[in-house]
Amino acid sequence: MRMSSRLHPRIPAHPLSRASCAVALALAFAGAASAGPLSGLPAGPLGQSIQRGHDMIMDTGADARMKVHVGNALSCNSCHTDGGDNDHPGNFLSTATKFPSYSKREDAVITLEDRIANCFMRSMNGMRPGTDSQVVVDMAAYISWLDRGKPILAPQPPAAPGPYPAMLKSAGRADVVAGSRVYASNCASCHGATGAGVSGAFPPLWGPDSYNAGAGLANVAKLATWVKGNMPLGNAHLTEKEAFEVALFVDTQARPDFVLSQHLPPGTRPDDYNARVRSETDTVESNLRKVGLSLQALR
Ligand code: HEC
Ligand code: HEC
Repeated sequence: MRMSSRLHPRIPAHPLSRASCAVALALAFAGAASAGPLSGLPAGPLGQSIQRGHDMIMDTGADARMKVHVGNALSCNSCHTDGGDNDHPGNFLSTATKFPSYSKREDAVITLEDRIANCFMRSMNGMRPGTDSQVVVDMAAYISWLDRGKPILAPQPPAAPGPYPAMLKSAGRADVVAGSRVYASNCASCHGATGAGVSGAFPPLWGPDSYNAGAGLANVAKLATWVKGNMPLGNAHLTEKEAFEVALFVDTQARPDFVLSQHLPPGTRPDDYNARVRSETDTVESNLRKVGLSLQALR
């Protein structure tokens, strides 16, 4: 600050000082950007919890306590891009204001902590952490921090239906073939021809180290919505048709089945898992069947 006020009166006088002014401005902006969602954190234990939650969302497998809860090569940030602090599909803005909320999947009213634990079982293909565990509380603290000052919305207004459910009704093998072409020219450069990604840089889109068949993105319409707003990373430009085709292609590839009982820690008592749906099995095949498609006919 002191530096820019000293430079200011000289701005028009000399090209060098103009350059230094540009540098000072760039520095000021860089400072603001790097502070990002964590600027103004409260001092003490709450600020530390929010910071830990943010760090675990950005690099979820890094914490040793996560071993059992992260069963693949993803981080929360793989899908909740920029740690959820943007306006893309999957963002965390207004997330905290939506809970408690009725969830059809669990047939129960769930909390933000329940919702986080559910992404661990499905999108992260891991064991469900306790909703009162420090990792889940820290993540909830970070997600709630993003919504500080906003009114609680619960119950949230229903989302408008996108174009994808209608596209699913007439989908066939030609769309999968078109999707494989969209993939080759827009996605394979980062995620690899076999969808396996590149360790530490690009997450896998299918195969044993990606999200399981119980995850939100295993639903073709949800994946299409997400891809349309997020991918290719930094340059999301696909048409709705291309996003749909590539989503159909990706979600017809092999990925882990989801068997609910295998994601609840041994000894889980009914009270430990806030859901009335106690048994669920999803596979690539059953997900397609649910929307009226046949894997055999698509491959
Ligand atoms: C493979 C992608 C993926 C990964 C990885 C993932 N999520 Fe999600 N998450 C989603 C999708 C997609 C939704 C929306 C699902 C829906 O509409 O059913 C979602 C929803 C959520 C929500 C509710 C958001 C809202 O506004 O309703 C929370 C909270 C959440 N995830 C937290 C997490 C956390 C914490 C992690 C890491 C432990 C994580 N997610 C990992 C894909 C992912
Ligand atoms: C420039 C490299 C790049 C390209 C090209 C790209 N992605 Fe990604 N993608 C990423 C990165 C990096 C992430 C993780 C998010 C992050 O780190 O910000 C990601 C995350 C994802 C995820 C969620 C995590 C997972 O592994 O399931 C999906 C799904 C995805 N990309 C699909 C696609 C599709 C489909 C295309 C082509 C239309 C595409 N990507 C093109 C870099 C890329």
